[in-house]
Amino acid sequence: MMKPILSRRSALGVFGLAGLSAAAGCGSSVGGGGGGGGGSASGGGGSIKVGLVIPQDGVYTPLGVDMKNGWDLFLERNDGMLGGYEVETIIGDEGEGPDTGVPAVQGLLQRDEVDVLVGIVNSATALGSAETVTAAKKVLLIGNAGAVALTGADASPYIWRPSFTNAQSPRAMGEYLASQSIEGGVYLMAPDYAAGQEVVAAFTAAYEEAGGTIAGSALTPFGTTQDFQPFLSAIPGSGAGATYVFYSGGEAVSYVQQYASFGVKDTVPLYGTGFLTEGSVMEAQGEAALGVQTTLHYSTEIDNPANQEFVEAYQEAYDVLPTCFSMQVWDCALVLGLALAETEDLSGDAVSEALDGLGEISDSPRGPWSFEGQSPNHIEYLREVQQGDGVLINAVVEELGEYAQ
Ligand code: BEZ
Repeated sequence: MMKPILSRRSALGVFGLAGLSAAAGCGSSVGGGGGGGGGSASGGGGSIKVGLVIPQDGVYTPLGVDMKNGWDLFLERNDGMLGGYEVETIIGDEGEGPDTGVPAVQGLLQRDEVDVLVGIVNSATALGSAETVTAAKKVLLIGNAGAVALTGADASPYIWRPSFTNAQSPRAMGEYLASQSIEGGVYLMAPDYAAGQEVVAAFTAAYEEAGGTIAGSALTPFGTTQDFQPFLSAIPGSGAGATYVFYSGGEAVSYVQQYASFGVKDTVPLYGTGFLTEGSVMEAQGEAALGVQTTLHYSTEIDNPANQEFVEAYQEAYDVLPTCFSMQVWDCALVLGLALAETEDLSGDAVSEALDGLGEISDSPRGPWSFEGQSPNHIEYLREVQQGDGVLINAVVEELGEYAQ
């Protein structure tokens, strides 16, 4: 269970600009000399170089846009400061996978000498970067990549995850669908790389443990599958009463549209991790997405003051609804600011120690969460795509409880 401890911002009793400006005002007790490889810390009023690693190319490009928006918005609302430090952001283009993502991480650490890294969408890229991050002794705040091992038992002490693991959402859905006693069991589909494999494994374990049966499964080539029909055609014949999938970005658009246009949706309801129907992807899916149910740690429809302010500010800035991806990077900025307000210097050890001491993050748009180990313990929500006021929304159907690592 999470221990309720007031975060610095809650203790200050304010949200957003006023809250973190006040935290930034603690700058006189913050900092205290270099320490970061970037060497930019100079005590209260020092600066910090942050490497923001996001995809600007490939299947996950829309996620990168949302993540950058979340980061920019948080900084904009806090005068460009985190925990008393003026932030210089340097973007590294992750591209689609490790071939481009790992060199981007290396460049930020070695050429740009950033103090902290934030971001990374793709699990394989994050796994491939872990050794470099550990050797550099710099903190990486993962803004998306869900690979379980990144924060598992043998995790690097420098890798912290304010986002999620690839096991949390599928575990919640596996237990939920088992409780629905679906006749014929569930058919599984995901892209064939680290994240897809982990989602399928976690769902299978949870669903079977709760008495469910897997009707069949298919892993599709990642990033190159445009025609899902050969895979979709196996579903009706399997006798499955539901399909459960993990797809995100461009693949989520094609999958959901083809699931409807090939008529599978008419007979076998579609479920998935929440990434399937987030933001611009859901808008592109259009009517095909209506009724799709997913589990995730975020929805724009979560009813709490922090989320209402976040959604409103995001809409005002970008004229679209935020997504879990923007929220996750917003929360990276939030916890980094809280940690920096407590650190003596910008070394990976000092920042890690401060992150470890944060307690409950009580003013996140997702609702309260806390680090359990180096990964979030947070609520999973069952969501359904519904028609909102002129836009599709992921309506919150039910809170499914807290899930960690
Ligand atoms: C991953 O690779 O871990 C991932 C990518 C997109 C959405 C969620 C997870």
